[in-house]
Amino acid sequence: MTTADEDRYAERVHRLCVPIALRPGGRVWIGPLLPDDRDLLSREYATLSPESKWNRFLAAVPELTPSMLDQLVDEVDGVDHVALVAFLETQAGLVPAGVGRLVRYPDHPGAADMAFTVKDEYQGRGIATALARSLVARAPKGVTRILTEVAHGNLAPLAILGKLGSMQVFQSSEGVVDVEVKLAGHEEDSAAESTCLHRRPGIPSPAHPRLDAQHHGLPPTA
Ligand SMILES: CC(C)(COP(=O)(O)OP(=O)(O)OC[C@H]1O[C@@H](n2cnc3c(N)ncnc32)[C@H](O)[C@@H]1OP(=O)(O)O)[C@@H](O)C(=O)NCCC(=O)NCCS
Repeated sequence: MTTADEDRYAERVHRLCVPIALRPGGRVWIGPLLPDDRDLLSREYATLSPESKWNRFLAAVPELTPSMLDQLVDEVDGVDHVALVAFLETQAGLVPAGVGRLVRYPDHPGAADMAFTVKDEYQGRGIATALARSLVARAPKGVTRILTEVAHGNLAPLAILGKLGSMQVFQSSEGVVDVEVKLAGHEEDSAAESTCLHRRPGIPSPAHPRLDAQHHGLPPTA
């Protein structure tokens, strides 16, 4: 990380982010992903372990493609697609440590997909938990549930999502589990939305560009 990066992060954090204390000590600052974070996202994603990359997209995605970056950065509107970045205070200064997003399903406005990623070296410190809570606090109006997919055996996201409300996990046949969380303190906004939406064919998972496989040139199972 260059001194210029450090200065930029410090300026941004103090202007836009809020501090959250982490359990084992330390502090993370969470604020919005910005339109010019394309390079940041791309660069930091490239440093993840293959396992973390797989768990994020449920596919082998060695680097974020331009079309994925369009979706992950350009399509963030702060309303129906909320994306947050976590900057960790370290001895070396502020470092980008994680990212999380909440994306409303266009055809099911009471539901949103949630995804988060924390850099391998900073995992296990409560950063994703802080991101998830911050995302729920900024959830699009009317969103009462999270619907998402998690790799079978990836237990950390389940631990995090389970703290957001009442969680149900549905086994899937593709090494993936479907997760539904009724958000605590968020009322259902319509009877129609109260039906279980999990695993309906044709409902793309908006925070997981991998599901838009054809568009992104990814394998159909991605
Ligand atoms: C999933 C991920 C975001 C978690 O980030 P993190 O900052 O380490 O998460 P936190 O420290 O906030 O919390 C992790 C929780 O999972 C629990 N956990 C971690 N590994 C676990 C395991 N193997 N079994 C059970 N629980 C586990 C922790 O105990 C903690 O729960 P607690 O607060 O009750 O103790 C991170 O591992 C990651 O980026 N993985 C790759 C991408 C991914 O899998 N994203 C999720 C799907 S989109």
